[in-house]
Amino acid sequence: MSPSSQLSWPERRLTDLLGIEHPLVLAPMAGTGTVALAISVSEAGGLGSLGCAGMSPHQVGQAITTFRARTNKPLNVNFFCHAQAQPDPVRTASWLSALAPFYHEFALDPALASSDFGIQPFNESLCQAVEEYKPEAVSFHFGLPAAPLLTRVKAAGCRVLSSATTVGEARWLEASGVDVVIAQGYEAGGHRATFQTTDLGAVARQPGLFALVPQIVDAVAVPVVAAGGIADARGIAAAFALGASGAQLGTAYLLSPEAATSSIYRDAVRHAQVESSVLTNVFTGRPARAIANRLTADVGPIVRQLPDFPLPMGALAALRAKAEEHESRDFTPFWAGQGAPLARAIPAEKLTRMLAQLALERFRALAR
Ligand SMILES: Cc1cc2nc3c(=O)[nH]c(=O)nc-3n(C[C@H](O)[C@H](O)[C@H](O)COP(=O)(O)O)c2cc1C
Repeated sequence: MSPSSQLSWPERRLTDLLGIEHPLVLAPMAGTGTVALAISVSEAGGLGSLGCAGMSPHQVGQAITTFRARTNKPLNVNFFCHAQAQPDPVRTASWLSALAPFYHEFALDPALASSDFGIQPFNESLCQAVEEYKPEAVSFHFGLPAAPLLTRVKAAGCRVLSSATTVGEARWLEASGVDVVIAQGYEAGGHRATFQTTDLGAVARQPGLFALVPQIVDAVAVPVVAAGGIADARGIAAAFALGASGAQLGTAYLLSPEAATSSIYRDAVRHAQVESSVLTNVFTGRPARAIANRLTADVGPIVRQLPDFPLPMGALAALRAKAEEHESRDFTPFWAGQGAPLARAIPAEKLTRMLAQLALERFRALAR
């Protein structure tokens, strides 16, 4: 028996629902999370997640098979539910002209600036992969898929989670049948889950986690997981004090050796301060929190009239590649939350056990 299992969590709705020991969810991190990271977190008793945005159904199947070969613990598989991008010549031209000075500076052929970049939203073929491999949990970002697809995911026996950035979104998710609402605060790294508005003014209005969690907890009956800026046991304990049934952590794992964080990305996280990240839409066309860099400063952080998500990434690819050749992070999105300075370079299984143990000790101390 591990030392932490002799102490108990103050609330067990999430752990009971998902069949996990600790109410700690590894944030799905498309492109940066790995199967090895998910295995480590699940082995430690948390919920390992795979960020499958950008993966083909075959790749999703392979990733789940690799996970299953290494552990029989529960797994969460995550997809995006954005509307399919519609190319718009005016917005494309405006984006290409915003990047033209950088193309000139690096002597890059403007023809390299592709106006195309694809990430499939959750669709028929990805749903078939879910039905075939039946992960214990499926989480969605940017809302939910159309009702028939959602019904099939639930019929496959998967618990469904999705993120809300407002009380209205949380209510809608519950009414649509999710089993768990993830309350995503302003502090969070990566894309805002915001799905009820495309108004860029919502970026400045997004609530912080301390205000958001209790208000969502009051509004819905399903368990609520807190996400955003939580990177140590104090944050986990605070999430429970606010009424959450669990915590989802992403940035906290960016320095773990299992993460696919590149060396310049790791360096940026290691040197981050609480104010180093910014909410910006310039990397993908949707607001997201990343470590500020030249692109967010010179072009962003917020640009109106960008091409639809994720098309802006197409024209950035050549610039990113050129800059990265010189170890420059000027055009690369290093997604990270305000908790980045709290991230520790510790293997994810050890980190998860440590976070659980320290949070449990904190609850015991508070109960005295
Ligand atoms: C590097 C990175 C990538 C992310 N990618 C995804 C993703 O693919 N799917 C998703 O639902 N959320 C994604 N998120 C957001 C997380 O789900 C979560 O809201 C966030 O990590 C919580 O805040 P924290 O980073 O401060 O822990 C990502 C976050 C980070 C830091």
